[in-house]
Amino acid sequence: MKILVVGSGGREHALVWKLRQSPKVTKIYCAPGNAGTALEAENLNIPSDDIHRLVKFAREEKIDLTVVGPEAPLVAGLCDELRRHGLAVFGPSAAAARLEGSKVFTKKLLRKANIPTAAFSVFNRMPEAMQYLDECEEQAMVVKADGLAAGKGVFVCANLTEARAAVRSILQDRAFGEAGSQIVIEECLEGQEASILAIVDGDTIVPLDVAQDHKRAYDNDKGPNTGGMGAYCPAPVITSAIMDDIVRRVLIPTIHTMKVEGCPFSGVLYAGIMLTSQGPKVLEYNVRFGDPEAQPVLMRLKTDLAHVLMLAATGRLAELESLEWDPRPAVCVVMASEGYPGEYTKGQVINGIEAANQVPGAKVFHAGTTLKYGEVVNAGGRVLGVTALGETLSDAKQAAYAAVNKISWQGGWFRTDISDKAQP
Ligand code: AMP
Ligand code: GLY
Repeated sequence: MKILVVGSGGREHALVWKLRQSPKVTKIYCAPGNAGTALEAENLNIPSDDIHRLVKFAREEKIDLTVVGPEAPLVAGLCDELRRHGLAVFGPSAAAARLEGSKVFTKKLLRKANIPTAAFSVFNRMPEAMQYLDECEEQAMVVKADGLAAGKGVFVCANLTEARAAVRSILQDRAFGEAGSQIVIEECLEGQEASILAIVDGDTIVPLDVAQDHKRAYDNDKGPNTGGMGAYCPAPVITSAIMDDIVRRVLIPTIHTMKVEGCPFSGVLYAGIMLTSQGPKVLEYNVRFGDPEAQPVLMRLKTDLAHVLMLAATGRLAELESLEWDPRPAVCVVMASEGYPGEYTKGQVINGIEAANQVPGAKVFHAGTTLKYGEVVNAGGRVLGVTALGETLSDAKQAAYAAVNKISWQGGWFRTDISDKAQP
């Protein structure tokens, strides 16, 4: 089986690493990949948003399965184009990817299907949005740009003044261009967050073990939002009773409604869930593996991933017996460039990756790395996802940080408290 993985982050390195363990897989390409995928697959010089060249390559090389990592090519219709040419692909159609590509689409679907989520209103003009805020009581509010905004389109506002500023920045100043032609203003929810990922083939839903991300830049959930500074799996905060509730009240009605609406969902459905005092509520959907959640989740998965993704891509997920998991927890610590999540420095030589990979149970997944004169240098904001298994969560944390401490480059930094929220 020849596989093409699309993307260049830590998630894609973890996908390549896991897919390579399948006895069915003979060759893996990664477009465009990073310095880590270069060691375990053949990197292609094709950007992940170049649909034309990706489809051409998959056709010419007779790729058996394409696995799409990031959201942008999904929302832009890469899977539709591949399917149009009779090629198997793991990922949703553009119509189904609206679950991530349009917050207005998602909120309306949630409301229609009576799925628990924050109360909300939609606006596309300044005067109405401002009048709505004028009529609200003083409170925390969340303002969201409708479309894809590279993780920056959500403003959690402590008060109405901040909410007005967010509305202005999206609707008036067009900080996110067309992605901000509509906004959602919603109630601010409180509680612990969890990432619920499920593999779906349009009908059958196979939930993965739950992970928890750490979105804020600094320890104790302080500082600006990031793409995610670390994750661990499983997350004990989601008990099996809560998980059953989420499957029944969130995942099943979502997949059912998508089918009824004529845009069946296949791929990874990632529900960002807030555990509120009134029960689990949907914060948002993503339509792909989480990054960095994929790293600890895939490290624990024992079932052949190529087999699972092929079944999902071909509508045969019902044939899957069940997933097998390593009982040991996994912790992933993200190492980032100086300045991230703002402007960051690049091109520094990274030392110690091999030594880190020698730490028992540890694996270094590359994200924003590239090769320069044969050396690995940082090339993105999130640079490495250092992941480790351990007998207990604290063993896994210890192993991950033992590996992190072998690695250094100028300005490289990381949070020191990944997974602490699991054991307060
Ligand atoms: P993003 O992943 O960039 O869409 O950002 C979503 C993040 O914003 C979530 O992980 C939450 O931390 C936060 N968020 C989104 N909606 C709400 C809400 N209604 N109440 C509180 N926090 C929210
Ligand atoms: N870690 C959050 C995300 O993948 O969107």
